[in-house]
Amino acid sequence: MRLSTILTFAPALASASWAPKALPGCDIYSNNQCAGDDIVTADSYGANRWFTPAKGDADWQESFQDYSHLTAFASIQYSGDSATVTVNALHKDNATLTYVFDGVEQADETKKFSTTTTAPVTLSVRGSDKTEIALEPLDFKWNAADIKLTYPKGDYREGQKGSIVEMFGWPHADVEKECEFLSKAGYMGVKVFPPQEQIMSTEPFQNVMNPWYFMYQPVSYKLEGRMGTRDELRSMINTCRGLGVRVYADAVVNHMTGGGNDANPDHRNPNANCQAFGAKQSSLEGGTSPMYTQSYTYTTSESTGLPPLQEFPAAAYGPLDFHCERVLNSWTDPLDLNAGWLTGLTDLNTERDNVQERIAAYMTDLISIGFSGFRMDAAKHIQPDDLVGIFTKLQRNMGGEMPADWITWLEVLLGGEKDLLMCDPDSGYNYGAYLEDALLAAGLSKADVEKVKIWNSGYPKEPDAGACTISKSRNAIQNDDADQQNPGSTSRDMGDQGCVLIKDCGSADEHRDFEKQLFESPNGLEDEDADYPIRLILSSFYFVDGVQGIPDGKSDCSLCETECDTCTGVAKANAHDDDSTGYDETDYTRPHRDPEVVAAMQSWMGI
Ligand SMILES: *[C@@H]1O[C@H](CO)[C@@H](O)[C@H](O)[C@H]1NC(C)=O
Repeated sequence: MRLSTILTFAPALASASWAPKALPGCDIYSNNQCAGDDIVTADSYGANRWFTPAKGDADWQESFQDYSHLTAFASIQYSGDSATVTVNALHKDNATLTYVFDGVEQADETKKFSTTTTAPVTLSVRGSDKTEIALEPLDFKWNAADIKLTYPKGDYREGQKGSIVEMFGWPHADVEKECEFLSKAGYMGVKVFPPQEQIMSTEPFQNVMNPWYFMYQPVSYKLEGRMGTRDELRSMINTCRGLGVRVYADAVVNHMTGGGNDANPDHRNPNANCQAFGAKQSSLEGGTSPMYTQSYTYTTSESTGLPPLQEFPAAAYGPLDFHCERVLNSWTDPLDLNAGWLTGLTDLNTERDNVQERIAAYMTDLISIGFSGFRMDAAKHIQPDDLVGIFTKLQRNMGGEMPADWITWLEVLLGGEKDLLMCDPDSGYNYGAYLEDALLAAGLSKADVEKVKIWNSGYPKEPDAGACTISKSRNAIQNDDADQQNPGSTSRDMGDQGCVLIKDCGSADEHRDFEKQLFESPNGLEDEDADYPIRLILSSFYFVDGVQGIPDGKSDCSLCETECDTCTGVAKANAHDDDSTGYDETDYTRPHRDPEVVAAMQSWMGI
């Protein structure tokens, strides 16, 4: 009512707008805290959507496009040699929408493509109110290069057996160069770290310039990550596939960024002398996609008059797509494990059908650009039934069955909860026999369920923990993994059965022996032919003076613009080094190049 009065006196005002408000003193908003066992964000918070500044607003930037009014994502559904693309768009005021594929406008939100489409297709959505957003180009699986094996007689089982090198902190361009070595050595594949748009900052975080774990804080599912652009990624994947090396992603789909790590310029922390902090950026070249969280906020939006909640328009997520805020502080309570905000990360409500669809569409995009599978980060924090929903939707998208060479491995850290998580199928939160049965019941074939691996975190000390109710043919194993390198990390107890190269190995020799053992006689092996078909080697970098940056150039303090006095950083080094013979002592580690490790792997693979 008041608005029409304002409009009467100010006819030039084109749209409803509220003057932004700020809370007094050092107050901050504390909306949407879970009460009791609630895990759902109340419907009324749907009104807090559309926090992104509109064109013309002070905080608008080019990369925000018209996300103030419009969001969309594309999903691809394959059927034989064709694919149907559906654009799922939402406009704030329900403007009439049109869809622009390769420059051609159409009213229908779906379009069918066949193998005659040989290049990525550009896509945008237009509103009748002149709003427009450009989505990422569409890649189709038939355009990914054929996998030309160097050793066709090797025991790769069409991608169901082999060794994968995890290249932690390697830019896509370096991985592309490294694939020549991986090909000659006979590795089945290379795993890259999270390839999607993730937060970055020009201000040190806990004194570190762009720590590695920022890569695990998604801003959107655009394949525009710190390690390279979508074009660089596609080029790398095609080069590697052409050399017989498959490429795997790290899929981060449990959560988005940490509360407060967002594009809102106004934050303050009452628990730290009311310290103010501004907006974060992202890995997107030339800008950042909009991203908002409810944490540490005290101002309202010009368009809604309300404070922000969780909103990631470039991924098409709004406030209701997230669980209400709950501290994750129990490792034995299924409700907490599933719905708690793991270390403060905004937790997606994966019970929702539309969230499962969004995740399945992202995974379909990963396969479409040429990935052969993915690790599923924090899978333990997505309840087993929700994983079933995601995988059945992915299976449908792929045309009714998973690709022949597809695999995934779920990060389910067992710790002291192996009964709950693996060994007791009736625990109510079980990734062992319960999940296996549920996948079969939902219609995945036995062959496809076999492709869903559990990353056995019990290996090497307690290898039976990850296989108490499932076959070891569904286990992926490794000695050294990136998470253990963190100073203070004890999430996997390897005892004296394994060691972390950059942290607690007595020597490179000790590490080499554990890596060789992975192929020659891994702990817990019962059936040489079937057990542990996926074996991973970490190729990482040294944490110089304990600094958790990456030597890719983006943790260099020369990039610092704010609070730089205490900045600690890491200088750039080249990840690819063709002269390396493994176990380099500075910068990148490269154990996968060690001749003895390679020989052990080759012998396991029959090459
Ligand atoms: C847009 O359409 C939805 C669904 O029909 C409706 O609930 C909503 O109120 C509409 N919004 C506007 C601004 O008209």
